[in-house]
Amino acid sequence: MNKAIIVTGGAGFIGSNFVNDWLAQSDTTVINLDCLTYAGNMENLAALEGDGRHVFVKGGIGDSALVSELFSKYQPYAVVNFAAESHVDRSIHSPEDFIQTNIVGTFRLLEAARTYWNGLPESDKGDFRFLHVSTDEVYGSLKKNDPPFSETNRYEPNSPYSASKAASDHLVRAYHHTYGMPVLTTNCSNNYGPFHFPEKLIPLLIANALADKVLPVYGDGQQIRDWLYVSDHCAGIRRVLEAGRVGETYNIGGWNEMANIDIVHIVCDLLDESRPRADGKSYREQITFVTDRPGHDRRYAIDATKIERELGWKPAETFQTGIRKTVAWYLANPEWVANVQSGAYRDWLEKNYSERS
Ligand code: NAD
Ligand code: TYD
Repeated sequence: MNKAIIVTGGAGFIGSNFVNDWLAQSDTTVINLDCLTYAGNMENLAALEGDGRHVFVKGGIGDSALVSELFSKYQPYAVVNFAAESHVDRSIHSPEDFIQTNIVGTFRLLEAARTYWNGLPESDKGDFRFLHVSTDEVYGSLKKNDPPFSETNRYEPNSPYSASKAASDHLVRAYHHTYGMPVLTTNCSNNYGPFHFPEKLIPLLIANALADKVLPVYGDGQQIRDWLYVSDHCAGIRRVLEAGRVGETYNIGGWNEMANIDIVHIVCDLLDESRPRADGKSYREQITFVTDRPGHDRRYAIDATKIERELGWKPAETFQTGIRKTVAWYLANPEWVANVQSGAYRDWLEKNYSERS
């Protein structure tokens, strides 16, 4: 087999970080398949312009003919599947896209991979990997004193987003158990860092704060998430790809549970320090509690013992170091933020926030 991998969704937030990080430390060719939805952005890959190791292909994971062609042309030894609709609030407004990409798309990608894998020489079959990138949200919502999610927790997804990711995880699992395909699944907590689309909490806070807009906090702001800096997630995926046991699932998290309102305060305080408001007041003045998200999960937390023990992975960043880097990146890249705030982005803000009192 060639030294090539297919990465899907590699123009999105985590996928682009993964591709950039991968090519900073490996000469393996990356075939980056992304259909460039609103969340896909070629600017995230600007550092790779002219780099022959990066082959960008505009197309969807549900396009079976295209995907099969890529398999036979590039003979990859692995697929890393990031492609997805990823925003819970959008899944509440328009679930259909989530079913199409996250479920049907993953199914078609699996089918194309299975056909390719079946045709490999016996000696190469065991080396192939289909790594599916998923989320901790498939496990549902924890109560205050529940232990964090481990890989054996029951799946109890609560939003159309998490239900569609859960369905895709089940398909991946089934392709291992039924067909023997060498799959791996990772379930990660909330990521943050560069190239994060400003519909998600942390980049939305930074963009809104600087634009003198309200900082919308859903409900009482006491919902808890575990936060992991994106490059630590990418390192975890690389480690699972390299040494994970076939058919296994690995939870990836930062041991960093925080209430949303605390995140909001930290972001405001960092901005107060590095880009003080002209009137001398704190960005905290812009915090506004708004109507909660329907079915809002109260708490997510990850038990990352398995990946740490079996594969020796540990996050390099603490939340304190990661959030500083993130705020600094957004302050240094105002054009990136301006460019993604197109007409379509403004329509989304109107749709999501105008109905919240
Ligand atoms: P994102 O929304 O920023 O990016 C998704 C990318 O997939 C975009 O580039 C988009 O154009 C592309 N895409 C969408 N539909 C496609 C299709 N049918 N074919 C090809 N490309 C398509 O998402 P993200 O935050 O980077 O998340 C990536 C993956 O990681 C997702 O599977 C998500 O479920 C998972 N995940 C995300 C987080 C998080 O905190 N963001 C945490 C855990 C897991
Ligand atoms: P988000 O970044 O959308 O990620 P997810 O829903 O996948 O966890 O939201 C993170 C948390 O922040 C979640 O509990 C919802 C909350 N939130 C707000 O309070 N206000 C907002 O404007 C957004 C987008 C999210």
